[in-house]
Amino acid sequence: MSPAAKQTRIRTAVFPVAGLGTRFLPATKTVPKEMLPIIDKPLIQYAVDEAVEAGCDTLVFITNRYKHAVADYFDKAYELEQKLERAGKFEQLDLIRNVLPPNVRAVFVTQAEALGLGHAVLCAKAIVGDQPFAVLLPDDLIWNKGGTGALKQMADAAEATGASMIAVQDVPREQTSSYGIVATESFESRQGRISGIVEKPEPDVAPSTLAVVGRYVLSPRIFDLLESTKPGAGGEIQLTDAIAGLLKQEPVNAYRFKGTRFDCGTHIGLIEATIRYALDHEKLSDVAMRLMQNALDELGVKDIH
Ligand code: UTP
Repeated sequence: MSPAAKQTRIRTAVFPVAGLGTRFLPATKTVPKEMLPIIDKPLIQYAVDEAVEAGCDTLVFITNRYKHAVADYFDKAYELEQKLERAGKFEQLDLIRNVLPPNVRAVFVTQAEALGLGHAVLCAKAIVGDQPFAVLLPDDLIWNKGGTGALKQMADAAEATGASMIAVQDVPREQTSSYGIVATESFESRQGRISGIVEKPEPDVAPSTLAVVGRYVLSPRIFDLLESTKPGAGGEIQLTDAIAGLLKQEPVNAYRFKGTRFDCGTHIGLIEATIRYALDHEKLSDVAMRLMQNALDELGVKDIH
């Protein structure tokens, strides 16, 4: 058993954004799911900010041929910049200029066919090379108000232990069939060594209720495993199946991150995140609260429980 590349800080983050986003049709017919906004920032921007905070300076976006909006968003918008400059709208100018810090490069790779998350990650192999790297799924939005982002928490832990890290959170047992579920040896502080992982198990056979959330710090060994991974659950090449192979060769830890995760790949998760960010927003919170109260009053709702 060889240990993972110890003490190496991750520099590259992979964003698999080539999925079809069918749960948000018809909007996702033209707007990629990752471009849906929470208040005024698209989901992809929250994930990018988290990766940059964790120390990543190469961002690899796995897109498909229809998702020009993601590349356009990170590109320079000359005309708009000129217009804002002429109009003296410098605050807005800063916002559109700073979607990426100057030291950070964005690379776009096309996944020719949506063959699954594992296949999407494999598409980043040539750019990642032989170093540990991060994977972020932007529709999992993780909020840790005023604290360290989830990926930085995990990158620090990976650097200290040399293990790959998979973000997990407890879910109700009846929901295990919506997630990858891990079995762990003893948990210490926020981490536990993973002994098994299975994609979307039914509640009666799930090895635990610890569900995988869309943040990973992975050893580059995962690419060899992905290359030989056959289609699994849903006929897709699953990242979970390659991780099951990885943990037989190297330490892989489950990491219970500090923060709240919103599943913005679902309608209710996107609504919940929007409400929470609005209620926390320095300019919007009072009005948002009043509007919510008004709406409940109009509906005659006194006690929701
Ligand atoms: P999801 O399971 O959320 O699928 O993928 P999806 O297609 O995005 O959305 P629905 O279920 O149809 O509504 C998890 C992540 O993996 C990416 C997605 O973009 C998402 O970030 N993915 C999935 C790819 O990049 N390529 C694939 O082939 C599949």
